[in-house]
Amino acid sequence: MTERQPLPGKDASLWLDTTDRTDFPAMDGDRHVDTAVVGGGIAGVTAALHAAEAGQSVVLLERDRIVEGVTGKTTAKVTAQHGLIYDDLVDKHGRDAARQYARANAAAVEEIAERVERHDIDCGFERLPAYTYAADEDQRAAVGREATVAEGLDLPAEFVTDPPFPADTPGAVKFADQAQFHPRKYLLELADEISGDEAHVFEQTKVTDVDDGGRDDPCRVKTENGTVTAESVLLTTHFPIEDPAFYFARQYPKRSYVLAVELAEEPPEGMFYRDQSPYFSARPVPNADGPTMLVGGQNHKTGQGGSTADRYRKLEAQARDHFDVESVEYRWSTQDYVSVDKIPFVGELGPTTHDVYVATGFGGWGMTNGTATGKMLAEYARGKSPQWSDAFDPERIDPEAGGKEFLKENLDVGKEFTRDWAKAPFRGEDPNVAPGEGEVIRRGGKQYAVARDDDGEIHVTSAVCTHMDCIVHWNDAERSWDCPCHGSRFSIDGEVLDGPAVEDLPKRGE
Ligand SMILES: Cc1cc2nc3c(=O)[nH]c(=O)nc-3n(C[C@H](O)[C@H](O)[C@H](O)COP(=O)(O)OP(=O)(O)OC[C@H]3O[C@@H](n4cnc5c(N)ncnc54)[C@H](O)[C@@H]3O)c2cc1C
Ligand code: FES
Repeated sequence: MTERQPLPGKDASLWLDTTDRTDFPAMDGDRHVDTAVVGGGIAGVTAALHAAEAGQSVVLLERDRIVEGVTGKTTAKVTAQHGLIYDDLVDKHGRDAARQYARANAAAVEEIAERVERHDIDCGFERLPAYTYAADEDQRAAVGREATVAEGLDLPAEFVTDPPFPADTPGAVKFADQAQFHPRKYLLELADEISGDEAHVFEQTKVTDVDDGGRDDPCRVKTENGTVTAESVLLTTHFPIEDPAFYFARQYPKRSYVLAVELAEEPPEGMFYRDQSPYFSARPVPNADGPTMLVGGQNHKTGQGGSTADRYRKLEAQARDHFDVESVEYRWSTQDYVSVDKIPFVGELGPTTHDVYVATGFGGWGMTNGTATGKMLAEYARGKSPQWSDAFDPERIDPEAGGKEFLKENLDVGKEFTRDWAKAPFRGEDPNVAPGEGEVIRRGGKQYAVARDDDGEIHVTSAVCTHMDCIVHWNDAERSWDCPCHGSRFSIDGEVLDGPAVEDLPKRGE
């Protein structure tokens, strides 16, 4: 057995570690509201607040605690600069759609700024320029083109040859007047505003089924604690928990890594991004004990690409290449979905559903996309056609023609297989797996996910993803089972951590 080298920094998100846990009550019994919002990340909290501000009765239903999902683990740059995106958007979607995307995201920066000011929210909100810099001479032309295209879309863009970081870049596209903040301090204040007789946040209330009720009846949202009937449902669960329109095939999961590092020097002024695969991102953290920078990157498709622990080590090496690092304070990791054509999906959930609206596929830029789409969803819930809806319409990409039956068959086969697996005993000796490690082991024609925790205890589940039958891979940094097909993640005991899967991996003996 090889011994695991400890990873640098505390295994926690800076945002979660510097705020108290919320304790909104769980829902108790049935209710009727105008709008039910499912999922309490930035999209859900923003949508619920917009609905409440418009005078609707609203419930926000969160399976765990709000703002602890991807939003609790972001790097929290608040900017309409999303790497080198606008040149590509104009190319793929045309100038009108690219302009709608730009306007939606620029308006989101201003909405956040306006709310911070109006409610006097102490969330470290500060204006900074954002830079996407060229990695080398080869990327200089692309960066220059991005500056020209973005400026043509009325964004505050210019090409600069002397950004404050890094010293050796041939140039960068700069967006003036962007921002950064502490996402939990901002969103927990917003969540407190969703209160009163007609507006409630419920935590520890997992939604298990959403039925649209057809054209005439209200929607029914089933939870473990009762049923909500609602005129509209807004699905903001990151990956939608109902997938009648094959979102799993229209977006892919991008997992990436963040370190908070203390520096021996003052950080450069600005937020920085290198648009390559893997990307590299850096932003300062105000009000930390010493000069602190968040660095991020080392992205890969979830469940693919080898040791995740090595990603942290590579990221630390990159941070040390760029900065005079005194210590690594925190490390964390999370994933976002990227739509295949780079614009999120916001609108009616499926071609045959009624009054159920979704927002997903923020592409690693959900602070602004999530804010913009929160507003759009709340407008859909009031029967309006929101600004920018054409560009974000989920129906702009047809689900694979003729693929439905094939996919359904696959799903059925997968379910049969896992049901069958659950009855199969795990025979023979426990395998030779080191603490903190996991392996997929084949025995008697079945595939088992076998991991050993730090106390030496073995955990065994099915290795067959409950979404569509792929075999999960061990994630040695987060100690989870990750699916390489569409990004579902499961705990060491098989509980769903991230969709599209909604069913746990069956455990040995179940
Ligand atoms: C490493 C990294 C860095 C990033 N940095 C930035 C950045 O600097 N700027 C930026 O703009 N974006 C950034 N992003 C992207 C951004 O963080 C995300 O797009 C955004 O947080 C997603 O928000 P969300 O509301 O969709 O999802 P989440 O925050 O995950 O919220 C979804 C919620 O739904 C709940 N839920 C799920 N299932 C159920 C159910 N059945 N019933 C009830 N509730 C349920 C979950 O518990 C969760 O709380 C980054 C992403 C990553 C991966
Ligand atoms: S996430 Fe689709 S098969 Fe696992």
